[in-house]
Amino acid sequence: MKLIHNLDKKYSTLLECAIKARSKAKADYSKYRVGAALLDSFGNIHLGCNVESADYTLTTHAEMLAVDNFILNGNGNIEVILIALEGENKPATPCGLCRQKLNEFASKDLKIICVNLNNKEKINFIYEFTLEELLPYSFDSSFLNSK
Ligand code: THU
Ligand code: ZN
Repeated sequence: MKLIHNLDKKYSTLLECAIKARSKAKADYSKYRVGAALLDSFGNIHLGCNVESADYTLTTHAEMLAVDNFILNGNGNIEVILIALEGENKPATPCGLCRQKLNEFASKDLKIICVNLNNKEKINFIYEFTLEELLPYSFDSSFLNSK
């Protein structure tokens, strides 16, 4: 985990995109909005936001939607994912399901940038992780082909 004081300029567009995606979130129930912007190795950005429903279990997470959009429209590898979410006092990070989903399609050294906003939508802090840090000893397809 790395605390980032100044986000590298090359990620400015990704940040703008994630914030814009977050503004589209449908979070009427939890009021917790998340936006994700994923950069593929062809330089294209794929977005996601969380989408909640009256049936609480029917919720799409921002990161999952970004990955699905990458699968649909993207090419090459996932280079980095930037996530904009609310985090006041401690780092807010993608949930376990999203980590597992990223693990399916990205490499262990995937850069995960978590931009934590306060309740006034201002950047509180930015943390950078690798997928390996957030999901060590992960389950993947390598366990399935041994029989
Ligand atoms: N949420 C995400 O979009 N990504 C995560 O990994 C954490 C949780 C959403 C799901 C739900 O709409 C809201 O945040 C509260 O859990
Ligand atoms: Zn999640």
